[in-house]
Amino acid sequence: MFSNDNLCSLRWDPVGQAVEIIDQTLLPHTLRWCHLDSLAVFCHAISSMQVRGAPLIGITAAFGLARALTEDASTENLERASAALLATRPTAVNLRWALQLVAGAVYGLEPARRAEAALNKALALRGEDIANCARIGEHGLQLLRALQVDGTLNIMTHCNAGWLATIQWGTALAPVYKAFAAGTSVHVWVSETRPRNQGMNLTAWELQRAGVPCTIVADNSCGQLMREGRVDCVIVGSDRTAANGDVCNKVGTYLKALAARANDVPFYVAVPESTIDWSCVSGARIPIEERDEAEILTIAGLDAAGEVREVNLAAPGSRALNPAFDITPAELVSALVTEHGSFAASPDGLARLKLAK
Ligand code: MRU
Repeated sequence: MFSNDNLCSLRWDPVGQAVEIIDQTLLPHTLRWCHLDSLAVFCHAISSMQVRGAPLIGITAAFGLARALTEDASTENLERASAALLATRPTAVNLRWALQLVAGAVYGLEPARRAEAALNKALALRGEDIANCARIGEHGLQLLRALQVDGTLNIMTHCNAGWLATIQWGTALAPVYKAFAAGTSVHVWVSETRPRNQGMNLTAWELQRAGVPCTIVADNSCGQLMREGRVDCVIVGSDRTAANGDVCNKVGTYLKALAARANDVPFYVAVPESTIDWSCVSGARIPIEERDEAEILTIAGLDAAGEVREVNLAAPGSRALNPAFDITPAELVSALVTEHGSFAASPDGLARLKLAK
């Protein structure tokens, strides 16, 4: 029987008083848990993408701030540590959201009580993330059921918005796991997600571990698959959703949304409320992270001897541009699937979300 209970990306060890994460830069070849035990190590884990995915970035930062306060609980250090964590990655709004919640929980307290209060807040956010993703799964399941597909339901996804990107369940993959657990025949088209290949390296790994049938496809083949009628819906996550319903997600999402619209394929975005930036009026205002060109020009994989090796792909001296995210305009989104239900990607739809809470 399928269960998501034992799968998690970040755990708290109450005996060792330590945070442990799966180092996602080593997947799918090595599953290694790492201790995060100082502010610098937390910052490195986020910026180097040992942890990634908007919800997990936020929760990790919350624990990082709590950790920093165990060393120095002064207001100056609270502000310094928050700024250091906030600077690790610019796009996922969950980072700012989580840091503000932890800081808000401790500001008014005596320094001696701050570290414990911050840890409790981080643990609470972790628990809420699990519950919210499970709810997104249930609401998304209703949408999948409404598709009334005869035979296997073919779902396409991009990047990784599974339990590796959250704590458990995931956002975009939660409805898939719920459908699979309910006995629905599902198959997932996993878009490889160049340049870092989170689809191939993380999503396919997750789905295979759970026993969910999936096939990795090159990013560039997704439009053709839709054209051939081999995709019943697309579900992706989001790093920041603007108040008008524009969605920022991993680069390549926009092209899938365009192809989905052209081929009458529903395009769903699974988004916890923590990923909605109510202060951001449109996608045009969302900062798009630009990462190192080496992510495009080189690639790592297992060689014949089972060793991980990095190789150059391009001619020496080639230059590359590496925007990590793109904006999908609200009008291309069929629905935003949240922990409060499914809503239109529009100011009106988001106003309804606020009322539904
Ligand atoms: O650069 P990454 O791997 O952090 O990007 C992750 C994504 O784009 C995910 O789709 C998004 O964070 C949603 S995760 C539930």
